[in-house]
Amino acid sequence: MEPAFLLEVSRPEQTMLCGEIMGKLIPRGSVVGLTGDLGAGKTVFAKGLARGLGIEEEPNSPTFVIMSCYEGSVPLFHFDVYRLSGGAEFEDTGYEEFFYGDGISVVEWADKVRDVLPGNAVIIDIQFPPQGDEESRTIKVAGKEKWLLSFRNTAEQALLASKK
Ligand SMILES: Nc1ncnc2c1ncn2[C@@H]1O[C@H](COP(=O)(O)OP(=O)(O)OP(=O)(O)O)[C@@H](O)[C@H]1O
Ligand SMILES: [Mg+2]
Repeated sequence: MEPAFLLEVSRPEQTMLCGEIMGKLIPRGSVVGLTGDLGAGKTVFAKGLARGLGIEEEPNSPTFVIMSCYEGSVPLFHFDVYRLSGGAEFEDTGYEEFFYGDGISVVEWADKVRDVLPGNAVIIDIQFPPQGDEESRTIKVAGKEKWLLSFRNTAEQALLASKK
C-alpha cells in the first residue's frame, strides 16, 4: 500500500485551492491520476492544478477529446479517458510521449488506465462523504513522492485558513 492522506474540503473553491497548491509544488514530468464518481470534482481539481502552473486558460473536459494541452511555465496535458474502454485503447493515443516527457500529465478517470500509469504517479481520489452537505468532499492523496509531504502541509494549512 502506498502512503496516503486525506484532505477534507467543504466547497469547490477548496478543491480548486488544493489543485493550485499542487500545481505550485509538482515537479516536471509528474503524472496525476484523478478518480471519483461523476461530478466528484476531478475537473475542478485539474483547473486548480492549471492555475498553480500559471496557465491562464481553464481546462474543461470536452466530449470526445481524450487529451488537451495547456501552455504554462510547464505544459499541462489534461486527459479525460471516461470514454475509453481501457488500457489497450489508451495505447493508441500515444500517451507515453506525454507521461514520460517534461510536462505535467493529469488523467481524469485514471482507474480505467491504471495498468499503464507510471509507478510513481500520484493518485487523487475524490469522494462524496456518506453524510455531509452537497459541497463536501474527501480528497485522498496517494503516492510515494517526497514533495507530497510539503503538499500535505501546505494544503492542510491553507484549508484551515480558508475555513476561518
Ligand atoms: N467540494 C467540491 N469540490 C469540487 N466540486 C464541487 C464541490 N462541491 C460542489 N462541487 C461541484 O461539483 C461539480 C464537480 O464537477 P467536475 O466537473 O469537477 O466533476 P468531475 O469529477 O470532473 O466529473 P466528470 O466525471 O463528469 O468529469 C461542480 O459543479 C462543482 O461546482
Ligand atoms: Mg471531469
